[in-house]
Amino acid sequence: MSLSGERRIQEHPILPEVARKQVTIYYDGQAISAYEGEPIAAALMSAGLRSFRRTVKKGEPRGIFCAIGRCTDCMMIVNGKPNIRTCVTPVEDGMRVSRQLGYGKAEEAK
Ligand code: FES
Repeated sequence: MSLSGERRIQEHPILPEVARKQVTIYYDGQAISAYEGEPIAAALMSAGLRSFRRTVKKGEPRGIFCAIGRCTDCMMIVNGKPNIRTCVTPVEDGMRVSRQLGYGKAEEAK
């Protein structure tokens, strides 16, 4: 899978443009452009990622569901720590993010 493309709203008809610092995070070793302070999930979705983890029993993919930190569908491994809710965790430069399998084993990159 390659992560490319920018799926952000570049110009909003109502909201003003906000100055943001661009940084780089790494998803399974792939560099992804992000904005400091935005949710990790927003940066990954902007890059085209939709599956953030896989379920324990059936290995089914999960992604953003509530987007407010209430479910567990967006949990990923961030800087080696599993079970991080990426929808409410802000981006920091150089973060390393990987897909989570079940309760916290990193999924092999394919
Ligand atoms: S999408 Fe529900 S906690 Fe993040």
